Amino acid sequence: MKILGIESSCDESAAAVVEDGRRILSNVIASQVSLHARYGGVVPEVASRRHLESLLPVIEEAMAEAGCGWNDLAAIAVTVGPGLSGSLLVGLNTAKAISFARDLPLVAVSHLEAHIYANWLDGEGSGAQPPRFPLLALIVSGGHSDLLVMEDHGRYRLLGRTRDDAAGEAFDKVARLLGLGFPGGPAIERVSTGVSVGRGLSQRLPRAVLRGSYDFSFSGLKTAVLRLAREYGEDLPRAEIAAAFQEAVVEALVAKTARAAREERVTEIVVSGGVAANRLLRETLAKRAPVPVRLPPPILCTDNAAMVGACGYFRFRRGERAGLDQDVLSGLGLPQPYSPRPVPRRSPAIRRFPR
Ligand SMILES: Nc1ncnc2c1ncn2[C@@H]1O[C@H](COP(=O)(O)OP(=O)(O)OP(=O)(O)O)[C@@H](O)[C@H]1O
Ligand SMILES: [Mg+2]
Repeated sequence: MKILGIESSCDESAAAVVEDGRRILSNVIASQVSLHARYGGVVPEVASRRHLESLLPVIEEAMAEAGCGWNDLAAIAVTVGPGLSGSLLVGLNTAKAISFARDLPLVAVSHLEAHIYANWLDGEGSGAQPPRFPLLALIVSGGHSDLLVMEDHGRYRLLGRTRDDAAGEAFDKVARLLGLGFPGGPAIERVSTGVSVGRGLSQRLPRAVLRGSYDFSFSGLKTAVLRLAREYGEDLPRAEIAAAFQEAVVEALVAKTARAAREERVTEIVVSGGVAANRLLRETLAKRAPVPVRLPPPILCTDNAAMVGACGYFRFRRGERAGLDQDVLSGLGLPQPYSPRPVPRRSPAIRRFPR
């Protein structure tokens, strides 16, 4: 069963065709990173305008690469939230138009849930077993750091989340502080490679422990980097500070994830989101986790539509359908259920002019 996935929640216009929720037939991503780099972050209005230009060619390419015609598709899965409203609207309305014109069912997908489903994708079809429940899901992305138990498809229990900055957001902000550019995660990883962190520096960067909780907190760490940067001034040892920061984030993520895996007795850990591309996190987690760890290849950690197609497949199989009145849900989270029904609108106060 082939599903066309469409993703436009932030700064990637993406489309993919996925078979049976696992096999990637095509995965096309038009990234806007260079467009936003000069502003040091994503500019929402600029992002939605670019989605308008790129999404249709990206969908056409994904269909052609998969050797797929409209009649070969079982459904269209589209991200409805969380994300930037303007960007989400472009993807959702494009999906609705195709669904209406080609008489194809529409499936609404949460971007966060889709990140988890990147772990179901099996590239060209190596035959690897799919994840087994109950599993522990760590989502570490630009907007989220969530730790959840996934008991079955669509059944989540939230254990913890960040109380302030998301892990990816902290990477981006610290990279900006150190003058390393945007996006910050890959930049920090690059300058940290091969740098050993001295004890003195490491001790100056706090790890928020938050005893008795699975929540994370990264804003204190960010402030500590800011203080260090001010102290050093011109002689700022960028690479050492970047490496110490990366180590502190990884330690916090790995400690809570490993403890949760032990206490919740899960069968495996699945990690996803842009920060899951980080090599130190991948290696440390694999070493310290009490159960097997599954990590998507880096291209499937950051935003893509193959994960939307995979997630959409399992929702479609459960009979979920969205109507043409489906709205975007920019603040959508997990495990909050996201019904295909639109959010109720408050009617605006309309002032009528006399005729
Ligand atoms: N190698 C890496 N190491 C650390 N962080 C990374 C790496 N690669 C990407 N990131 C970070 O991942 C984030 C982007 O991930 P992703 O695309 O999943 O986030 P998003 O879609 O913006 O947010 P969300 O998924 O929460 O809506 C950025 O903050 C980026 O700095
Ligand atoms: Mg994302």
